[in-house]
Amino acid sequence: MQKELDQIKEYTYNILQNDTTGHSMDHIERVVAISQAILETEPTADAFVVLAAAYLHDTIDDKLVEDEAQAVEDLRGFLDSLAIEPATCQEIMYIIQHLSFSKEITAGKETLSLSGQIVQDADRIDALGAVGILRTAYFGGAKGHPIYDPAIKPIDYTSKKDYRRGSTVINHFYEKLFLLPDRMNTTYGKQEALRRKTFMENFLEEFYQEWPDTD
Ligand code: ADP
Ligand code: NI
Repeated sequence: MQKELDQIKEYTYNILQNDTTGHSMDHIERVVAISQAILETEPTADAFVVLAAAYLHDTIDDKLVEDEAQAVEDLRGFLDSLAIEPATCQEIMYIIQHLSFSKEITAGKETLSLSGQIVQDADRIDALGAVGILRTAYFGGAKGHPIYDPAIKPIDYTSKKDYRRGSTVINHFYEKLFLLPDRMNTTYGKQEALRRKTFMENFLEEFYQEWPDTD
């Protein structure tokens, strides 16, 4: 299935190549690599579905494409054009339409197949750690958010629209990133998420020491 994976990678590249919010091909390649590491520990999962969904997972995201419904249609048409079973296409579509954190805010956590659980964990691991810190700052910069403002408290979001508006870079740690370890699916994912969260907590300790006390 290497030929199909190469075509899938090319499809993703065409959509995300100009992204400047931390969702370009380097994010995708890391999610693929992390998915491969998790696959080693979950030998019963379908490797093709995992890798295809890892490559495609951000090609229909509302924050990255102008028209989500159109992006879903386009992707369905593309998958139908490949030499893949219809049931496989359907599983890939289901996974990438249900793995996002932002969807969980209103819809709750979906039950995903093992393949879906692996890709969701890989995407969430790439939101954490040193890479996660930089991606969050990069996204905040692209959106014009402040780095930090002690007067703006972290928000417990109940609407996707408010979540998309966001607040500050540091608040995003509390509003999303630190919630992730409890929401991981696989043993590998949970361990790695906790390890990365600890690193981020140490980073924040240093950060707060450096930030001047203006009260
Ligand atoms: P999902 O794709 O699972 O819905 P998100 O849309 O929440 O996930 O975000 C993916 C990544 O984009 C985050 O991990 C973070 O790096 C960045 N990001 C999203 N929203 C914000 C925000 N409000 N502030 C800073 N970074 C954000
Ligand atoms: Ni992603």
